[in-house]
Amino acid sequence: MTTALLPATSKVNATRPQGARRSITMTASSRNNGYHQSVLLRETIERLAPAPEKLFLDGTVGGGGHTAALLAAGASVIGLDQDEDALDAVTRRLTEFGERFQPVRSSFAEAGEVLDGMGILRIDGALFDLGVSSHQLDTPERGFSFQHEGPLDMRMDRRGLVTAADLVNTMSGGQLERLFRQYGEEPAARKIAAGIARARMVKPITTTLALAQLVESVVPRRGRTHPATRVFQALRIAVNRELEVLAEGLAQIAARLAPGGRFAVITFHSLEDRIVKDFFKSRSKPEIDRPEWPAPRPNPDFIFRPITRKSITASDAEQRANPRARSARLRVVERL
Ligand SMILES: C[S@@+](CC[C@H](N)C(=O)[O-])C[C@H]1O[C@@H](n2cnc3c(N)ncnc32)[C@H](O)[C@@H]1O
Repeated sequence: MTTALLPATSKVNATRPQGARRSITMTASSRNNGYHQSVLLRETIERLAPAPEKLFLDGTVGGGGHTAALLAAGASVIGLDQDEDALDAVTRRLTEFGERFQPVRSSFAEAGEVLDGMGILRIDGALFDLGVSSHQLDTPERGFSFQHEGPLDMRMDRRGLVTAADLVNTMSGGQLERLFRQYGEEPAARKIAAGIARARMVKPITTTLALAQLVESVVPRRGRTHPATRVFQALRIAVNRELEVLAEGLAQIAARLAPGGRFAVITFHSLEDRIVKDFFKSRSKPEIDRPEWPAPRPNPDFIFRPITRKSITASDAEQRANPRARSARLRVVERL
């Protein structure tokens, strides 16, 4: 892996970025490249303030929509994704940017190691756009969707050892109930877990539609949301250890941001949004106070200035054009 792209904040010498600089225009192709329709693209890029000589880490490069916009503004980007298919596709898509784009197959939880391996001390900004891409969802053999028949897999990184089918067929009824309640916020967790425990005594549940139909037989469909939505979310979070990995990734980036560097995170459900909100908030207060203390004390974790006071949500137009944008929330902080 070359380090020729690195700008001034890294410990190696910067070289001139390759590829012509273009103004940040959110074209239809940067928003939707056929692989994934980027969410909150303009809102995110504006706040990350990309410029030539700046180095960003995109922890979830996916279809490369956000990264393409950063590169088009002249910045350099290290793009991480733990999904090999995503990384192959985005590498092909962004070849025109030469060495300014460095794809790396890795979880963002290992961002620090990746940067160490490249000899980089500091980055000028970072982005996590959490969850799965439309391409992952729409590829039946990845097993993320209850709308397509496929193996019950759900691993973003297929080197992982545990699939959703493993969890569904080996966890006890009580463990499944807790899983659906905690990670899916599913009110019918107990009924669904009991239904699974009964059904798998006859034969293992190994496909997406088998699970979706089973859930639907226990919790009948009401309204537009499929009754298996929360169960699939819970299994995906567990298979990919999404909440633990998110907490680790936030810490890794916080440790590497250069002063003035911005960190943007887009979340899609309340569990991950709470983690990001608490992480940013607890590091954005100059002082902390406890009832048992006579006076507030300086906060040893005070490292951020909030850029977004409240989370930013997608415009009505974006929500109409892309249903996935409806649950998106963007939060941004700046390293002091
Ligand atoms: C929502 S998509 C990102 C889309 C991208 N921003 C775009 O505009 O095309 C999320 C991507 O992040 C990847 N991903 C999710 N969690 C990850 C993690 N912990 N580390 C690395 N990649 C991750 C997924 O494999 C997926 O490709």
